[in-house]
Amino acid sequence: MSEYCIELNNLTKKFGKFTAVDDFSLKLLPGKVYGIVGPNGAGKSTTMAMIMGSLHPTSGTGNVKGHELGSREALRVLGYSPEYTSFYDDMNCVEYLWYMGTLSGLSNEEAMEKATSLIKQYDLVDHAYKKVSKFSTGMKKKVSLAQAMIHDPEILLLDEPTANLDPTSRMEILNTVRSMVQDRNLTVLISSHVLTELETVIDHVIMINHGKLIMDESIATAQEKFKQGILVVSCDNNELLYEKLEGRYSIEKAKGSIRITTADVNALKKDVVKTIFENDLVLNVLHEEVLSLDLLYKQALEGEKE
Ligand SMILES: Nc1ncnc2c1ncn2[C@@H]1O[C@H](COP(=O)(O)OP(=O)(O)OP(=O)(O)O)[C@@H](O)[C@H]1O
Ligand SMILES: [Mg+2]
Repeated sequence: MSEYCIELNNLTKKFGKFTAVDDFSLKLLPGKVYGIVGPNGAGKSTTMAMIMGSLHPTSGTGNVKGHELGSREALRVLGYSPEYTSFYDDMNCVEYLWYMGTLSGLSNEEAMEKATSLIKQYDLVDHAYKKVSKFSTGMKKKVSLAQAMIHDPEILLLDEPTANLDPTSRMEILNTVRSMVQDRNLTVLISSHVLTELETVIDHVIMINHGKLIMDESIATAQEKFKQGILVVSCDNNELLYEKLEGRYSIEKAKGSIRITTADVNALKKDVVKTIFENDLVLNVLHEEVLSLDLLYKQALEGEKE
């Protein structure tokens, strides 16, 4: 059996003449957290829907632990929290989770047991008998996550689990994801536009643009590949330092510092220190910028335009 828990081979999804996902291939290793990022309309949700089998690819194939996409066996190991969840109007939280559990193949008793324990785990006890359709956005997202976990899946697909949430709820959801991954060795594919948050949970970044895969790397490899040699410097007179270095480097003013881009970081460091010394300035900060997921994203998309 393959070492990968999800394999997508040349998946294409067309809606009429429009190609939403274009010859997309991907392999996911078990126990890792993958972030899938890309602009609005890039094809993230469509890809997840194809993994779940709720959308059929126009061409290409895929499998989940060797099982065909959309098969009962594949769905048994997958948990899915979609971008938008529609809740049944008249169901309360316990009823909804129980019902979703039975749909996932649990017996009535098992589903009730699991629903009760997830309600405790997700801090929803006070709301257990209230109608989910009346819940706040944050509570609905929690219920959607709980629902994805009802049958103890091995692989979780989370489509923008923190969208429209306040900072506290976002943190709560991310902490939950983090602890689930640690406790259960889950494989997670998570989409989000909040890249500063995403980079705190993912091992691996998958980038998609116009339905095409444009990056599939571990965060560390991607950072290394796109590393540009950017030095962040701050001294007691940034304006003067800027003037002294201007013209020799690609340099920009940032809040409280200046950012200098170079191919030879060590030579630049020496030059900066020398300039600071010669002009009797006081050095406050000098460090190489770590490439954030935000910057990585920007650079990869800019590279696409060229
Ligand atoms: N059922 C559909 N019929 C026609 N076009 C669709 C359908 N579903 C998605 N699309 C189109 O396919 C493209 C990809 O959509 P998708 O929802 O996968 O993007 P996304 O990457 O999830 O975007 P977002 O970040 O906004 O959630 C979009 O242009 C969208 O309008
Ligand atoms: Mg989407």
